[in-house]
Amino acid sequence: MKLGRLNHVGVAVPSIADALDTYRTLYGVTDADITPIRDMPAQGVRVAFVDVPNSQIELIEPLGETSPILKFLEKNPAGGQHHVCFEVPDIIEARDAMVERGATVLGEPRIGAHGTPIIFVHPKNSNGVLIELMESPKGEEH
Ligand code: CO
Repeated sequence: MKLGRLNHVGVAVPSIADALDTYRTLYGVTDADITPIRDMPAQGVRVAFVDVPNSQIELIEPLGETSPILKFLEKNPAGGQHHVCFEVPDIIEARDAMVERGATVLGEPRIGAHGTPIIFVHPKNSNGVLIELMESPKGEEH
């Protein structure tokens, strides 16, 4: 298992709407660069993606009382960089390789915001950075 392309950088925010305003007014992002805000109740989050030419920023807002990012926002009330996501060809192969290499994989593979399976690797294994591994969409392997 070897990391593929950087798919996105995840940023936790108290409000996606406010964060999008910042990307529009400060960084010139237009509505054509922004995906609609989508609720993902199973994950306890609401997400929107900002497209940039070579990657995406994933804005993540808590959804519900048990959202996994509430604790992060308690520590970082203005928001902050939450995770970095790399593509891999096969999520099960990636998960098995992570476990074999002694990393702590958080939970079972599940369907992520791009509709393909994802896993998360504990930040303690990667210099304090939470790593998301995402199976490349079929036909889009890089
Ligand atoms: Co992500």
